Amino acid sequence: MHDSKNQSNDPTNTMWGGRFAQGPSAIMREINASIPFDKALWREDIRASKAHVAMLGAQGIVTPEDARAITDGLDQIAAEYERDGVPENWDLEDIHMTVEARLTELIGPVAGRLHTARSRNDQVATDFKLWVRRANARALAALSAVRAALVERADEHAATIMPGFTHLQTAQPVTLGHHLMAYYEMLTRDAARFTAAQDRIDECPLGSAALAGTGFPIDREATAHALDFSAPTRNSLDAVSDRDFALDYLMAASQCAIHLSRLAEELILWASQPFGFASLPDQLSTGSSIMPQKRNPDAAELVRGHSGRIVGACTSLMITMKGLPLAYSKDMQDDKPPVFEAASLFDLSLAAMLGMIAQTTFKPEKMRAAAAAGHATATDLADWLVRAADIPFREAHHITGEAVKLADNKSCALEELALADLQAIDPRIDERVFGALSIEASVASRASYGGTAPDQVQSRVAEARARLAQEAGATK
Ligand code: ARG
Repeated sequence: MHDSKNQSNDPTNTMWGGRFAQGPSAIMREINASIPFDKALWREDIRASKAHVAMLGAQGIVTPEDARAITDGLDQIAAEYERDGVPENWDLEDIHMTVEARLTELIGPVAGRLHTARSRNDQVATDFKLWVRRANARALAALSAVRAALVERADEHAATIMPGFTHLQTAQPVTLGHHLMAYYEMLTRDAARFTAAQDRIDECPLGSAALAGTGFPIDREATAHALDFSAPTRNSLDAVSDRDFALDYLMAASQCAIHLSRLAEELILWASQPFGFASLPDQLSTGSSIMPQKRNPDAAELVRGHSGRIVGACTSLMITMKGLPLAYSKDMQDDKPPVFEAASLFDLSLAAMLGMIAQTTFKPEKMRAAAAAGHATATDLADWLVRAADIPFREAHHITGEAVKLADNKSCALEELALADLQAIDPRIDERVFGALSIEASVASRASYGGTAPDQVQSRVAEARARLAQEAGATK
């Protein structure tokens, strides 16, 4: 049947070759063929065709017998593709013509009635929307799982102290729970972007035909509802040339991939020997073929790396769409490879990140020691001078700098300085200062709304749990 990918047996194309005296060159066939990648749309294509032919039958545009024969033929093709995969014949260009050609083999010329009142232009837009809608749904489900895992680990480590960084320099002590909840916030915004993408994708292009609509008495509400869209699209020119839905997906995936990449980078740093804050799960690490001691964070590195390819896919489709006149142009066939590639990388990245969040072993003692080492409570000393001794903050900052210098000279922590040493720097300091200098006191004191204090983290965790439960209820 489909014996060759790149050899043409027909002098002209049987689908559209009527006006041509000569068939396409080998180069034309090759550059034109989207079947190597759009065969991934076969389920959507058959589903949309079944909805279309059911509507044609209901409207009396094709007879009930023809509609039945076409539907049965489509079911048979679905069974074949499920079993054997989709054959790849470049002469048939794409998944739409591949299905139609097989339908003709199976049921004869009546197959030709399926394409009444539609075009590949509204067909591909419909198929692709169905596919992207599922990708959005997968992203949302995976994001819920990753967010829930972050919340659980944050709860576990609501009071675990680690150094907080700016410029990757120890800044102030924070809690690991607070740090993990920062990623929960990012991924919650990402989920909102995918939810918005699902709202916008919810209009069905089918029936827009080539670009102008059709003269046949079709029922677009019926096909829209059969395919689980809320409504048909309102403008046929827009409907066949719109790929915003694919860009919505890629933009949301890009933003999320950037977040995953930042978290991956932190896990890589934390798992490094100089940090020693964490040990990544065995299942998501690899060894070295030459250095027996190595335990490499490859999954995290690939999540970080894949983000570049996902953003690249988004850039690719944006540039494909830029400057295209209405309505369909063949450039738009290039919409699918970036989306398919980004989706499989993104699904994998989320799955890998879920495992890393759930199974990473954190090292609280190492984190605490690092937080204690970097004079991370210097701001607390300055704040204490302001509060307890009514010193202006700028002056308090300067006094604290002297104390840090002294502690450095003595190779000790700020809280280990003798009261006499501190009073030599400024006599207004008294013994109450030590209540502010411990890293536990520092963290507990940052209890402003959204701050790092364990109580605050626990409150955010409780809210996040309630939100996740509510979201799960809403999608049921
Ligand atoms: N393979 C094409 C694509 O993916 C289908 C639409 C073809 N339409 C056309 N007018 N040639 O975009």
